[in-house]
Amino acid sequence: MNKATHPFDALMEITSRPPTVFVRGEGSFLWDYTGRRYLDFVQGWAVNCLGHSPPAVAEALATQARRLITPSPAYFNDASLKLAKALVDQSRLDRVFFANSGAEANEGAIKLARKYGALHRNGAHEIITFDGGFHGRTLATMSASGKKAFEPLFEPKVSGFPKARLNDLDSVERLVNDKTVAVMLEPIQGEAGVWPATDQFLRDLRELTTAHGLLLILDEIQTGIGRTGKLFHYQHADIAPDIMTLGKGIGGGVPLAALLATEEASCFEHGDQGGTFCGNPLMCAAGLAVLKTVATPEFLKSVADTGLYLESELQRLSARHGLGDVRGRGLLLALDLKAPIAASIVARAFEEGVLLNAPKPDALRFMPALNVVRQEIDAMVGCLDAVLTRMGVARRVA
Ligand SMILES: Cc1ncc(COP(=O)(O)O)c(C=O)c1O
Repeated sequence: MNKATHPFDALMEITSRPPTVFVRGEGSFLWDYTGRRYLDFVQGWAVNCLGHSPPAVAEALATQARRLITPSPAYFNDASLKLAKALVDQSRLDRVFFANSGAEANEGAIKLARKYGALHRNGAHEIITFDGGFHGRTLATMSASGKKAFEPLFEPKVSGFPKARLNDLDSVERLVNDKTVAVMLEPIQGEAGVWPATDQFLRDLRELTTAHGLLLILDEIQTGIGRTGKLFHYQHADIAPDIMTLGKGIGGGVPLAALLATEEASCFEHGDQGGTFCGNPLMCAAGLAVLKTVATPEFLKSVADTGLYLESELQRLSARHGLGDVRGRGLLLALDLKAPIAASIVARAFEEGVLLNAPKPDALRFMPALNVVRQEIDAMVGCLDAVLTRMGVARRVA
């Protein structure tokens, strides 16, 4: 790969990328321009819930593209009405606003909560968020995030996001005052390294927010659409949020996100919220194709089962190499490496043709397609085993 054949310096340099260019994807595999095949356990960052270029999504996009791409959000379109209805029917929420990215959906959730505070809570506007949380890269969502690396950036931040600690109810309660309007969190902190809120903590938060008249906002951008073995993660805790955001998996690879709210919390008035591409039928057609596949008991059970298989294989690998815990749920898992070796494992796995992600220097994150099969898991674990052995981390127990 060089600049003449692939003019990569025409792009802004926003992150370091491996020296190749991908040109094709199918299921759990990607191919680069040389024809080399890679087994993908990153999947567009937990986006391609049905794998790369799934036929159902490709077909829905092609059919919709021939019928209607975008009439403007100033008009209703049939695909967005169908998708909104399907999401409302599947969730315990009543209204949907479609967006183009997770950050935009979360920005909408923040605006909705602030509007609710202005209308119903004497102008209360503070939203309690969490250390380690990640909600996106707009100014407000970076401010809402509790990511250390964001702290010195783009000052001044948007104010009004005091931070509590995950799974520590007292730390939340201490921050509640008459300016508080909502509590917002990811059920599993993905970017922080896959740290789950316990089901009990989610239930306690639901009780606390209800007792204080606050909104509970769940950012299910990474955990939603089947990723943890339920269509929405909150179903594990048997609670219902007031506001929920979805992104990533909902479009099966295309830019689609959604902000859902109860009837009571849906307080936008004309002019408060919108966006040129929001709810365009092309993306919504992809969302419908995804939901048709994912929102079935059989598919969700297979995600839960495959997640347990991946978890147990990672645990066995960890025991063989003297590594740490496996955490997470369903097909959003992390392996604690107990040492800052994640980046070098990712680089070596790449050379072996396996794509992995290191959200932290000492952790690997696994977010394969939800329809990944056991042989693909075995191949990934086999590669990891070989890489760890070559790196000399092995401390075989048997
Ligand atoms: C929990 C969570 N919220 C929000 C976002 C931002 O989504 P997007 O990158 O689509 O703006 C992400 C992306 O990783 C995420 O994981």
